[in-house]
Amino acid sequence: MKKYLFALLFLTGVQLSAQDVRMDAFITELMGKMTLEEKLGQLNLPASGDITTGTASSSNIAEKIKEGKVGGLFNIKSAEKIRDVQKIAMEQSRLKIPLIFGMDVIHGYQTMFPIPLGMSCSWDMELMERSARIAAQEASADGINWTFSPMVDISRDPRWGRVSEGSGEDPYLGSQIAKAMVKGYQGDDLRKNNTIMACVKHFALYGAPEAGRDYNTTDMSRIRMYNEYFPPYKAAVEAGVGSVMTSFNEIDGIPATANKWLMTDLLRKDWGFNGFVVTDYTAILEMVDHGLGNLKDVSALALKAGTDMDMVADGFLNTLKESLEEGKVTQQEIDQAVRRILEAKYKLGLFEDPYRYCDLNRAKTEVFTPENRRKAREIAAQTFVLLKNDKQTLPLQEKGTIALIGPLADNRENMPGTWSVAADFPKSVSLLDGMKKAVGNRAKIVYAKGTNVVSDPQLDARISIFGKPTKWDNRPQKEMIAEAVAVARKADVIVAAVGESAEMSGEASSRSDINLPENQRELLEALLATGKPVVMVMFTGRPLSISWEKAHVPAILNVWFAGTEAGDAIADVLLGKVNPSGKLSTTFPQNVGQVPLYYNHKNTGRPLPDGTWFQKFRSNYLDVSNDPLFPFGFGLSYTTFDYKNLKLSDSGLTAGGKLTVSVEVTNSGNYDGAEVVQLYLRDMVGSVTRPVKELKGFRKVFLKKGETRTVEFTLTENDLRFYNSDLQFVSEPGDFRVFVGTSSANTLEAGFVLK
Ligand code: BGC
Repeated sequence: MKKYLFALLFLTGVQLSAQDVRMDAFITELMGKMTLEEKLGQLNLPASGDITTGTASSSNIAEKIKEGKVGGLFNIKSAEKIRDVQKIAMEQSRLKIPLIFGMDVIHGYQTMFPIPLGMSCSWDMELMERSARIAAQEASADGINWTFSPMVDISRDPRWGRVSEGSGEDPYLGSQIAKAMVKGYQGDDLRKNNTIMACVKHFALYGAPEAGRDYNTTDMSRIRMYNEYFPPYKAAVEAGVGSVMTSFNEIDGIPATANKWLMTDLLRKDWGFNGFVVTDYTAILEMVDHGLGNLKDVSALALKAGTDMDMVADGFLNTLKESLEEGKVTQQEIDQAVRRILEAKYKLGLFEDPYRYCDLNRAKTEVFTPENRRKAREIAAQTFVLLKNDKQTLPLQEKGTIALIGPLADNRENMPGTWSVAADFPKSVSLLDGMKKAVGNRAKIVYAKGTNVVSDPQLDARISIFGKPTKWDNRPQKEMIAEAVAVARKADVIVAAVGESAEMSGEASSRSDINLPENQRELLEALLATGKPVVMVMFTGRPLSISWEKAHVPAILNVWFAGTEAGDAIADVLLGKVNPSGKLSTTFPQNVGQVPLYYNHKNTGRPLPDGTWFQKFRSNYLDVSNDPLFPFGFGLSYTTFDYKNLKLSDSGLTAGGKLTVSVEVTNSGNYDGAEVVQLYLRDMVGSVTRPVKELKGFRKVFLKKGETRTVEFTLTENDLRFYNSDLQFVSEPGDFRVFVGTSSANTLEAGFVLK
């Protein structure tokens, strides 16, 4: 059999490295000793349950581990606990196969970085990679060797709570981020004890649920999947991601977890993925509710589709034996899945040393270190997006009295944001902490809560979860606002810390209304009525429709959820120590009725002429313009940047040739600062309709005040390719427009021809 495999690989031209050959031989030998039950055990990924330090051997899971019925565990942390669990596998199970330990290390471990949507607004790939590297360093020091990240689901729907966990709406930016994150987690050698295996998720199209409702049906054309939604998953595969997680949703009527076209034909055959596929939480069991049969039926479907590991559903463990006996699955299908999981463990070096990640001394010096926190603070400040700054309200002067008002000003627990399972919430820096520390005795900070996050106590209970209370205040709204106004009147400037709380976005946190909660709007009105300058610091995990706020509040800084160092980082930006440079990775709509609204849309046959608001029989609305509130790529700075002299090295491009696009960017304002220079293309005529603009390059440049820099991009024919109606990746000769500028809506323009 083995000989046959090698011969086949030889004939198909697949090159095996010496390490692959060794791995293959090792696993073949091991599998030769495994019973069917032990094989099914490797495919089983239960949750860790309630193991506390010292209780591993008496926990419910211990018996299963001894019997060889567990392949790995997840969401258990601490090197000591993990070592104890690993010991059960290594000392008390028959074949002593090490377990793999996974966790949702999504945007940092204990040192938390901004939520992924925030991180993506840095447009800084070196920084993205560094954040993943630090997360891997900390997680691995605490026993973990596998993370369920990066989450690369493109989403154009801010109602969906999980937009907070992804990189926004753009396939190109999303692909760059996917690569950087995989590299950051996995490094160049997975066997090192400070690198961990990444798991790209949720494959696929999870970010496109109907009506933005989590777990809802997804339905889209293949051509859209290939051009607009698949690129980041593919980029992660190309970057060598070790594992892939299935998504909950259906695709063409078949849930992803049982979708053979997706998991085998596309992922493995077309893209060449050679790691393992794990389901999302209970995704196999959920196919019973999807209506695909009982647990036995759906488990068999999942395995046959190419899914290797079952998270929590116990379907593989408990039903595949019977399915094998009945001929519904084959031994080969089971063996293939087992092999892929054993390979992952081999690649992580666990067979060499199962305790590789269980050094009991590392966590003390490698987790939540002052150095990591310093970097997290620095990184967080790069993710804030300055949405408005009339009359240079910002930066604030460090003098007089600053009133800090709002339900999110004094809430450490909410700063890390959603999916921050390893964070020690009370250790986060709130905005109040950060501002007080920053101004010292040079200015006075006064504070009032002003209002609750939301006015409905039932809604408040739903969002005060996972150790992140909103700290509900029982006083009537009127009384709280009156107190806030009295405090604000004594100040020179008001900073209003408003928005969503951390768990208003994230999993199963969809919203049908994406305005600022009404009670917070009332607070803003009262603060503005004092006549003092108001700066709105907006916490959010999604684009919010803040048309009223944009019209009335002089300055708006969007800070997402910036991680454990949030308060310090926000203070750095508010006080001008750091000049904001974040750019939106997702469009902000004027109202929820415009959703989905995204910059790289098609033109339609009845586009609205530029600069117009409404025309009968054109594609538009009666009651709102087509414009976004803030476009993709938008973000202000304390300084200004001027663009001029957009030049192309040639008027034409040939296959195999190169075209240089250059532009002069000048920092024309009064502060040093960074600018994200963006390049977009439009393919004017295609065999299929093409988007009005597509991001194809960006550079983040730091310019001293007064400095001018020529920024260059190189385009090749490959950049002009797309999937045509036969799903071939091609370019088509003809006219192209190129746009370079400060956002998707503010660019210089030129043209060239692809010959
Ligand atoms: C989420 C995944 C996560 C998994 C494990 C699921 O509910 O959808 O993103 O990785 O749980 O915690």
